[in-house]
Amino acid sequence: MATLLHLDSAVFPQGSASRDVTAAFVAAWREQHPDGQVVYRDLAADPLPHLDASAISAGADDALRGELAAELANADAVLIGAPMYNFSIPSTLKAWLDQVIIVGHNAAPGGPVTGTPFTVVASRGGSYASGTPRADFEFVQNYLEKVLTGLLGAEVDFIVPELTLAHSKPEMAELVPLADASRTQAFTDAKEKAKALAARLAA
Ligand SMILES: Cc1cc2nc3c(=O)[nH]c(=O)nc-3n(C[C@H](O)[C@H](O)[C@H](O)COP(=O)(O)O)c2cc1C
Repeated sequence: MATLLHLDSAVFPQGSASRDVTAAFVAAWREQHPDGQVVYRDLAADPLPHLDASAISAGADDALRGELAAELANADAVLIGAPMYNFSIPSTLKAWLDQVIIVGHNAAPGGPVTGTPFTVVASRGGSYASGTPRADFEFVQNYLEKVLTGLLGAEVDFIVPELTLAHSKPEMAELVPLADASRTQAFTDAKEKAKALAARLAA
């Protein structure tokens, strides 16, 4: 029985591309794993505290950090909704990372998260794809890829619904067809990746 840890961090509960796409991923996952478990945290609705000095000193002995680290270690796969805010991740997601990454415990060679597949739905209002004018301003994929592989030894895959502001910003009107194509592709990717991951974990 596989366990999926699902985190959302978009501030808005409705009309959120990352929430919609992670929900599609979970629906496809449940189809493959009707008896599987999905552990859910809404980091925007129920934010975690910032890491403080006593929690750093306590490491895995801190009650919250120990709970979060155990939840992560028990997950066979992890799904994260990570919208771009000010070129980077939401502070609530950063708080989760700061709490859950414990040097010498799970941030250690051969630690319990080594090889765990993470799928990140990285929604953004604009486009930061290679070759675009703002490509150098991308600190969601670039950061998460480094922190999840470099500290936890995880595997990371991205789904990127981009140009989400095209429908609401007149100056982006000509980008609406690209935005719609990106959204459609994100749902296709979510279903296919969830199915492929479920099959891989069942094998
Ligand atoms: C506080 C805030 C900061 C944002 N900063 C950026 C940004 O730096 N770059 C960008 O492309 N979009 C930015 N956006 C737009 C969001 O990335 C976009 O609306 C995205 O779709 C939000 O994710 P969601 O649809 O999953 O909720 C920002 C939105 C908010 C609310």
